[in-house]
Amino acid sequence: MANDTLSVTDNRTGKKFELKIENGCIRAMDLRQMKTDAEDFGLMTYDPAFMNTANCKSAITFIDGDKGILEYRGYPIDQLAEKSSHLETSYLLMNGELPSKAQLEEFTTKITHHTYVHENIKQFMDGFRYDAHPMSMLASTVAALSSFYPEAKQVKNKEVRRNQMMRLIAKMPTLAAFSYRHSQGLPYIYPNNDLSYTENFLTMVKSIGKPNWRPHPALVRALDVLFILHADHEQNCSTTSVRVVGSSEVDPYSAVAAGITALYGPLHGGANEAVLRMLREIGDKKNVPEFIKKVKDKDGDKKLMGFGHRVYKNYDPRAKVIKKACDEVFEVTGKNPLLDIAVELERIALQDEYFVQRKLYPNVDFYSGLIYEAMGFPMEFFTCLFAIPRTVGWVTQFEEMITDNEQKIARPRQIFTGPRKRDYVMLDKR
Ligand code: SDX
Repeated sequence: MANDTLSVTDNRTGKKFELKIENGCIRAMDLRQMKTDAEDFGLMTYDPAFMNTANCKSAITFIDGDKGILEYRGYPIDQLAEKSSHLETSYLLMNGELPSKAQLEEFTTKITHHTYVHENIKQFMDGFRYDAHPMSMLASTVAALSSFYPEAKQVKNKEVRRNQMMRLIAKMPTLAAFSYRHSQGLPYIYPNNDLSYTENFLTMVKSIGKPNWRPHPALVRALDVLFILHADHEQNCSTTSVRVVGSSEVDPYSAVAAGITALYGPLHGGANEAVLRMLREIGDKKNVPEFIKKVKDKDGDKKLMGFGHRVYKNYDPRAKVIKKACDEVFEVTGKNPLLDIAVELERIALQDEYFVQRKLYPNVDFYSGLIYEAMGFPMEFFTCLFAIPRTVGWVTQFEEMITDNEQKIARPRQIFTGPRKRDYVMLDKR
């Protein structure tokens, strides 16, 4: 008997089956042969929220949740954060290898020359209420971009597909900056091709009345590091949304818009905004024990926002890097007073059996919001700062799905629990 198989006996029929084990998995479709009779559909797996289901093969990002390991195309995240840039990391994610100097220059030039958006987009954005949430504006506007590039529907054409991927990476900072300026009642600042990707973004967001104003280099570097950390994270909720929506062969703008809406949720990318709200609610270090008690008592479904992860059952390696970046940012901006509350919350949680037993550690969102707030961003904008860098992850995963011969339109099954075969009852008989 081969040792890379699973021997299964269906006790309903006494039949025995040998299922192949490949990459630590069995194929769900191999279960369908297990039937009680010819009419039987065959066995399925039931896995709400895909807790134990691989929906694809991917070579982009590797995570070992128990060891707290994160690698982009095999390169450890802490080395990329220390030595790379977001655009170089974007090239790595998209192409699988670090670029040569010439390749990086060409990639940077292409991105730089796609940062503008059609002027009609401004009118589209102006239609939002003055206090519209920037994530809502970003999701809608990215979906609207689909109407400006009808050729993007040619998702099987590599050249066309890559052009849209570059456009999305290049335009996301512009759209995010425009949504910020709209929510602040400020005029839009156009991209400046003389600036680096992240410096250009910060300038479009922060420049007021001084055409030559430039962001502090330490803040540009810190945000670029944060962009590297947020670029991809294998099959998270928003990336899975991009893959599922993209599996209908819709254009990448529409698929990425689905990713943005998934990221908006407080359990996913919206957590960085929720962390700041939580720290503000706690208000002072002395209130931390009382808050922790409420979380443990599940008082009003209170969670320790920025803690826990579906995959990491150890410290999120990105949180370590972000915590270090806090020091560099606070040297420029002054220390965020909420940091003391966050550090105390972490200290108590990491020694409390409730969190230790559930393997709840700080994740990428626990400290990032403190940096964003110190940089002067309003809480509502924090998740946009996640969406910008995650765009390269979304489009790269989209392309991997589209070019995977095993993939087809996503269409899960269900376990039906409702009533069957009821005859219609006329209104006067109900
Ligand atoms: C991101 O998937 C990714 O890769 C995402 C991400 C990425 O880069 O794309 O890493 C980015 O989304 C990070 C996560 C940001 N979200 C938050 O910080 C929100 C707070 N965290 C939780 O909501 C939660 O930890 C999740 C959603 C992140 C993960 O939840 P799971 O894996 O579904 O775990 P669970 O909800 O089943 O929790 C298991 C237990 C439960 O207790 P019991 O029912 O066993 O008693 O742990 C408890 C939960 O109540 N728990 C928490 C908790 N997280 C889980 N209790 C208090 N505070 C928390 N934060």
